Amino acid sequence: MRRIRLGRTNQEVPAVSLGTWSYGGLNTARGMSVGWRDHDDARARAALRAAHAAGITHWDTADVYGDGRSEALLGSMWGEVPRDEIFLATKVGWFAGEHPRYYHPQLIRERLERSLKLLQTEAVDLYYLHHCDFGPDDRDLEPAVELLLRFRDEGKIRWIGLSDWSDEKIVRVIERVNPDVVQPYRNVTHDTYASSGLKAWVEAHDVGVCYFSPIRHGALLGKYSAPVEFPEGDFRRNVDVFTDADVLAQLRAHAEALRAEFADDAEPVLNALLGALLADCPTGCVLLGQRSPEQVAAAARADRALSPEEAARVLARYADLAS
Ligand SMILES: NC(=O)c1ccc[n+]([C@@H]2O[C@H](COP(=O)([O-])OP(=O)(O)OC[C@H]3O[C@@H](n4cnc5c(N)ncnc54)[C@H](OP(=O)(O)O)[C@@H]3O)[C@@H](O)[C@H]2O)c1
Repeated sequence: MRRIRLGRTNQEVPAVSLGTWSYGGLNTARGMSVGWRDHDDARARAALRAAHAAGITHWDTADVYGDGRSEALLGSMWGEVPRDEIFLATKVGWFAGEHPRYYHPQLIRERLERSLKLLQTEAVDLYYLHHCDFGPDDRDLEPAVELLLRFRDEGKIRWIGLSDWSDEKIVRVIERVNPDVVQPYRNVTHDTYASSGLKAWVEAHDVGVCYFSPIRHGALLGKYSAPVEFPEGDFRRNVDVFTDADVLAQLRAHAEALRAEFADDAEPVLNALLGALLADCPTGCVLLGQRSPEQVAAAARADRALSPEEAARVLARYADLAS
């Protein structure tokens, strides 16, 4: 597996890293479907073993994935996978519980202690603020950052991360948070990385980047021949791309064209979709959801770096679907 330097952390992580949101299974929160169907613990454990063997040694989770189920599954692996061979990331920010504020300092501390316990580790390598909404007048921003710096001094976290679905929201607060790593949403149909100003900040400050949902929850592979109705508890029931027959047909056609254009690659479609995001970001990796050993095997074969010209061609192909 090709590795990249994750910006100023100076850690070498796989260009195709592993996301474990789906390991939480079906889940609802605040009346919303926020999980994934078809999760199977044994299959996920086999995927993690295969990932370690393939050099996919950066694992991303969050306190809210399956309300801790994903973290607990990762934490149960250290008998088979040495903890110190994994770059481990988790997040805080989407659980409020009884607290009226997601980023109340007392809540953040409770959540970190819970994450460390479930992950069965003394420290996580990377700890993200999961979104950029810090309350009225950003009242919880500075206290949250101060607390994360204290966690770092206490040896409970090594680096600070910042995430959001909106690059613009990340850019608005990035100077005050000063993260070591950002986790933005990016794929070939949603690409505001440069236009938002995030790319410029990343380059000026040597920040690491981990793009999430790089194949739009699986839809970009062109594997759906008809609209899908996901069950209650599956996040994808809220994503309109899965219910639009015309868009799914366009995605199939684009995938077919990539298969022809990159026929010499082991995984032509996956490699092109991922490589297009990494060509302009030397400190970046993708967080690809991998649910099974087969998906891990495909990810391990999809790490060829695209040339700038190839990447531009892939991005241009999807301009008609930009959102
Ligand atoms: N910071 C945030 O707010 C945030 C938000 C979202 C995600 N994330 C992170 O990013 C990670 C990835 O995002 P994501 O899970 O939304 O989506 P993704 O990586 O774009 O898509 C992953 C899904 O695609 C399908 N897939 C993957 N490889 C495949 C293959 N070789 N062949 C066929 N299907 C394949 C699998 O689902 P099926 O098998 O069910 O089709 C898999 O779960 C998450 O796990 C999480 O760690 C972070």
